[in-house]
Amino acid sequence: MISEFVQTIAGWLTPHEGQFLYKVALKVKNLQGVIVEIGSYCGKSTIYLASTRQKVYAVDPHQGNVSGGKSKPTYKQFQANLKRAGLEEFVIPVVKTSERASVSFKHPVKLLFIDGLHDELHAQEDFRLWSTFVIDDGIIAMHDAFCGWEGAGDVATKYIVQNSIFGEIGVIGSIIYGKKGKSVGIFRIKRLCDKFVIELCNNIYKSLWIPKRIQFVLVHRFLRIFLLNEFTSFL
Ligand SMILES: C[S@@+](CC[C@H](N)C(=O)[O-])C[C@H]1O[C@@H](n2cnc3c(N)ncnc32)[C@H](O)[C@@H]1O
Repeated sequence: MISEFVQTIAGWLTPHEGQFLYKVALKVKNLQGVIVEIGSYCGKSTIYLASTRQKVYAVDPHQGNVSGGKSKPTYKQFQANLKRAGLEEFVIPVVKTSERASVSFKHPVKLLFIDGLHDELHAQEDFRLWSTFVIDDGIIAMHDAFCGWEGAGDVATKYIVQNSIFGEIGVIGSIIYGKKGKSVGIFRIKRLCDKFVIELCNNIYKSLWIPKRIQFVLVHRFLRIFLLNEFTSFL
């Protein structure tokens, strides 16, 4: 069960995206391995993940460096929020940069959630350093990647959407995710369609000649219908 308190925590995750994290963490519950999150901020996404009562490694230097701005250091607030949610026992805070934390990390990962710095260099580094830990049937999800930050979006498109080691791909809110493994039969066709629609939407958002309002309507009122999946919820 997810505490309602989570929605009052500072952060950029929407309730729909939070529900996705909860559902996807439940989906991998029977796999061997741990959950890793890159970028915890005040613990919003951490709480959705840890509400499934599984071990979550929460990697964040908590210095207040966020894409597009600067905040106060967040570790105290992060700890206080975990405590209030009653989930401290499931979360292992790793107060380091993603790069430093990856050096000594040794566990197989069944779910990797990337939500650190969103410029191309950092997003690519996060993916490169941590995706190698992800097991078969494991899932990688990147926040602010679908019609969001160009860096995170380009990395998710290149390394998840266009990468055939992910037999299943999808979008929830601004999250792009991929499940490692082969797709067969009808799921292969579904994957091809998802790839086509995700790339089309990202290209619409990148095109300078389509007015912003039209981009929004095309993507969010029309094309998104083709991206409904098992994690879509109608909140
Ligand atoms: C967008 S916020 C994360 C939001 C969080 N997932 C949530 O649901 O509220 C980005 C976080 O990345 C962290 N960060 C900055 N540089 C980092 C790095 N090199 N490695 C890992 N995390 C980093 C920041 O401290 C910040 O808390």
